[in-house]
Amino acid sequence: MKITRRKFFSSLITIVSVPFLYALNSEVERKIEIDKRKEKIYLPADLGNGIFFFNSVIIIKEGEKISVYSSKCSHLGCKINKVENGKIVCPCHGSVYGLNGEVVKGPAVKPLKKLSINKEIESGRLFVYEQPF
Ligand code: FES
Repeated sequence: MKITRRKFFSSLITIVSVPFLYALNSEVERKIEIDKRKEKIYLPADLGNGIFFFNSVIIIKEGEKISVYSSKCSHLGCKINKVENGKIVCPCHGSVYGLNGEVVKGPAVKPLKKLSINKEIESGRLFVYEQPF
């Protein structure tokens, strides 16, 4: 039986890609399953400008711009729930973050974790996923 070069490479690509596609599919299914288990935090439609603390997230609205960060301090993980002089302040050791999540004053050295804002297909409502502490 004679196999052409084209058929050989086509078969080789198929053989090599099957395990890769299986692993990719498993990873996507795992991610969807994890997302299903997470609680959604819906952003209020009538949110005014300012800094708001909802459960495990910090929502910052400046005009049309909305940013959402985890309220878990990047230093040792305390829940941030304070604003002083327009800055986000951790109550545990006093780290201060700007409205862009960057560290203004330590001991924290890493910025706050920025979260993706999602749009629910059915309702059009904006949400982020609850962040574990
Ligand atoms: Fe926030 Fe230490 S845990 S400053």
